[in-house]
Amino acid sequence: MENPWKQVPLSSYELHMSQKNVAQLQILNKIMEKQFKVCAKSSDAAVLGVAGGNGLEHCHLKKVYGIDINPQYLQACAARFQGSLDSQLELWEMDLREPFAKLPKVDLVLANLLVEYIGIEIFCEKIAEALPKHVSCVIQKVTGDLDFVSRSPYQDQLQPIGRLHSDIDKAKLTLKMREIGYSLVLSEIWALPDGKQLLRLDYQSNMKI
Ligand SMILES: C[S@@+](CC[C@H](N)C(=O)[O-])C[C@H]1O[C@@H](n2cnc3c(N)ncnc32)[C@H](O)[C@@H]1O
Repeated sequence: MENPWKQVPLSSYELHMSQKNVAQLQILNKIMEKQFKVCAKSSDAAVLGVAGGNGLEHCHLKKVYGIDINPQYLQACAARFQGSLDSQLELWEMDLREPFAKLPKVDLVLANLLVEYIGIEIFCEKIAEALPKHVSCVIQKVTGDLDFVSRSPYQDQLQPIGRLHSDIDKAKLTLKMREIGYSLVLSEIWALPDGKQLLRLDYQSNMKI
């Protein structure tokens, strides 16, 4: 079965995520601005689940890879950043759940609302192969009985994705990251207008480089 992410037009995803009551696109954008500052300008980064490139305008690093399963999202991302980031930006179409999918060797890996779709095991396997110095991810914190997909006029188009996701537990992710040699260095809650929360978790490699 085709991954449901390939069936959702970028415009539906972005319109949904930027609705006033959802505001996740705007908040993820602010978080990315801070995430890119985790390492020096001479570093490189990979953004997993880059979609249309929300937040990439804040990247002033030497090189940034944008990785996504949906080729149309990547086309839109390339068009948006043509002329501004094109010498630094490299886009890779990749299904991160595939065993042969390998991350580029970079200093910083960002994964915002991505681990929910590939799972902790696969995410940590990819990190353990690539061994970046820094990993920063955002997960949606599960609160009460609110639906994973927030209410909006576009929510029906996102329902197949809602069925694909699994809730990510901070403690389980942190334990697995510790097993592969990473310590939690930042845990930050971002409140959303509809009562949900995003949780930014930063990990740093324990390896002396
Ligand atoms: C919730 S969106 C997050 C988008 C983005 N990080 C943001 O700030 O808006 C999840 C993204 O991950 C991508 N994705 C989902 N499953 C994937 C997989 N198995 N391999 C690669 N990308 C995947 C989707 O296509 C989508 O662009």
